[in-house]
Amino acid sequence: MATGLNSFISSIMTRTTPLPFYHPEDPFFLYHDLYPTNQVKLWLDISTHCNAKCPQCHRTDANGLAKADWLPVVQWSFEQFKFAFPPKTLQMFKEIQICGTWGDPMMNKDIYEIMEYIMDNSQGIHVLLNTNGSIRDEEWWWKFGTKVRNRCTVFWAIEGVTNEQHAMYRRNTDLDKVLRNMESFSAAGGISEVFTVVFKHNERDMYNIAKVSKDLGARQIMFVQSNRFYKHPKFDFVDDQGVQQSLYRAELPPNKEFYWKSWDLNNPVAMEIIKNEASRTQ
Ligand SMILES: C[S@@+](CC[C@H](N)C(=O)[O-])C[C@H]1O[C@@H](n2cnc3c(N)ncnc32)[C@H](O)[C@@H]1O
Ligand code: SF4
Repeated sequence: MATGLNSFISSIMTRTTPLPFYHPEDPFFLYHDLYPTNQVKLWLDISTHCNAKCPQCHRTDANGLAKADWLPVVQWSFEQFKFAFPPKTLQMFKEIQICGTWGDPMMNKDIYEIMEYIMDNSQGIHVLLNTNGSIRDEEWWWKFGTKVRNRCTVFWAIEGVTNEQHAMYRRNTDLDKVLRNMESFSAAGGISEVFTVVFKHNERDMYNIAKVSKDLGARQIMFVQSNRFYKHPKFDFVDDQGVQQSLYRAELPPNKEFYWKSWDLNNPVAMEIIKNEASRTQ
């Protein structure tokens, strides 16, 4: 087995044509070498379940906002997680990002047990979790926050200052619930960062969203202009009541110095930058 693996690795190393997934200018890493450095970052999808119906999400059917019918509804169980990542394997990771492409990780029925296991069986791992946040209640989030404390950053989707504005994209979620959950998790010692997808309907409120986020315990905020319009300024969809609706692309310029950056909500200079961007003339 080891000889077979060695000859496979050696055949890769002596190739004269590049591998399809490898660009000659990229550094070449072998996991065998990386694991002992404890610097490996892991990306996990642990659930295709979601409570929300965001119209441009890959899991959502824009014609009625149900789950896309080709997507299976699956999730990892705690037992499967422990089997895939025994304590010895966990030691090799520096960071685990549990964002998800097809669902929300907080919908996983075993998320508490999985996180408790990671915390109890590793010292250095930091976990990043993305969620719409409108799942479970403040008591649950308090208990979760006291377990993970500063070893977990939760990215909360907050996209408005009223529920009406927030739910124009984050359909089927409740802004008040998200804010209560974030406040509870942060007060318990967890790290909260806000992730705001920006459209025409909320770009002028970026500063107000930042202020609310700061008041309710978030440390940082990142703004990202929706990247699902492709060449069109408008995205048409049919909502879950059968009503034809549209979302509109942000009109502010895609300033590379501003979007996709984490802004420190406790830094007055950062707050000023957010305020200026939200009120910028086009
Ligand atoms: C499929 S979601 C899974 C995580 C979680 N359910 C959430 O929404 O945060 C993965 C990422 O896509 C982002 N996302 C969703 N819609 C987007 C859009 N129209 N443009 C850019 N990012 C988007 C989410 O905010 C999240 O960071
Ligand atoms: S909350 Fe995340 S996974 Fe769920 S529909 Fe919205 S973008 Fe998709």
